[in-house]
Amino acid sequence: MYRCPLCREVLSPQASAWRCANGHQFDIAREGYVNLLPVQHKKSLDPGDNAEMIQARRTFLDAGHYQFLSDAINQQLAGVLQSTDALLDLGCGEGYYSARAASALNGVEVYGLDISKTAVRYAAKRYKNLHCCVASSYALPFSDGVFAGLLRIYAPSDADEMARVLRPGGYLLTVSPAPEHLLQFKQQAYATVRLHPDSIKDEAGFSHIKRQRLQALWQAPTASTMLQLIEMTPLAYKLNAAMRDVLCQQLPAIQLDFYLDLYQKD
Ligand SMILES: C[S@@+](CC[C@H](N)C(=O)[O-])C[C@H]1O[C@@H](n2cnc3c(N)ncnc32)[C@H](O)[C@@H]1O
Ligand SMILES: [Zn+2]
Repeated sequence: MYRCPLCREVLSPQASAWRCANGHQFDIAREGYVNLLPVQHKKSLDPGDNAEMIQARRTFLDAGHYQFLSDAINQQLAGVLQSTDALLDLGCGEGYYSARAASALNGVEVYGLDISKTAVRYAAKRYKNLHCCVASSYALPFSDGVFAGLLRIYAPSDADEMARVLRPGGYLLTVSPAPEHLLQFKQQAYATVRLHPDSIKDEAGFSHIKRQRLQALWQAPTASTMLQLIEMTPLAYKLNAAMRDVLCQQLPAIQLDFYLDLYQKD
């Protein structure tokens, strides 16, 4: 599955590393993941989500607030994948959705990729049913056509790269915020609220097959959970400490609103 990020030759497993025919070698970390992000491809020293964001997301997801989303994702994937297929989760974060997909989809090999080394370390350490690597969505360290499915939950991607690693007729399932996602939250934070767009994003080389809107009302969130939610979203960068305190105490309910979009490679 893996290919060398330096020369594109296939990588073969050694005792504790992956190695290509040209002698490029990538060690398998103690937690079981492989770092396939060459230093020269990095734009910063420690790209991707940082440890605080990842810890906040893990605590939040562990509490089950988004389990309904994970279940809906798995239901859609079960409809299009066979037990011999491989699935790649792009920007898998700390691995919650990928690991639940691996458990739900009997036999499907699930790969998780994220540019954040901390995120991948978290994922590989806890979830032994995953194949995890550090890499960028813009330069996927996989051979052509090896995946039957791709999952992209709130993560960046490149349409050409996605099409390249998918086999003909393969599927891409994306999750994005629908218009009213975290509406009450935003009403508190901003003078004017901009709703998320409801347009369907074009993915070059793919046809859009169907859209599912998934909504839930999250009743009486506690202050600490609200803080985790803030810390795992881009809102974290826009709010000062005093504002966080206000938000945490005042909201009786928050709207959750997602789009699941299924595409097929042309
Ligand atoms: C909002 S998080 C979503 C994580 C996970 N899918 C979830 O919903 O819990 C976006 C993730 O994309 C990762 N990311 C950002 N830029 C990336 C890139 N160029 N390639 C791969 N992952 C990237 C971040 O490190 C982060 O884990
Ligand atoms: Zn190589």
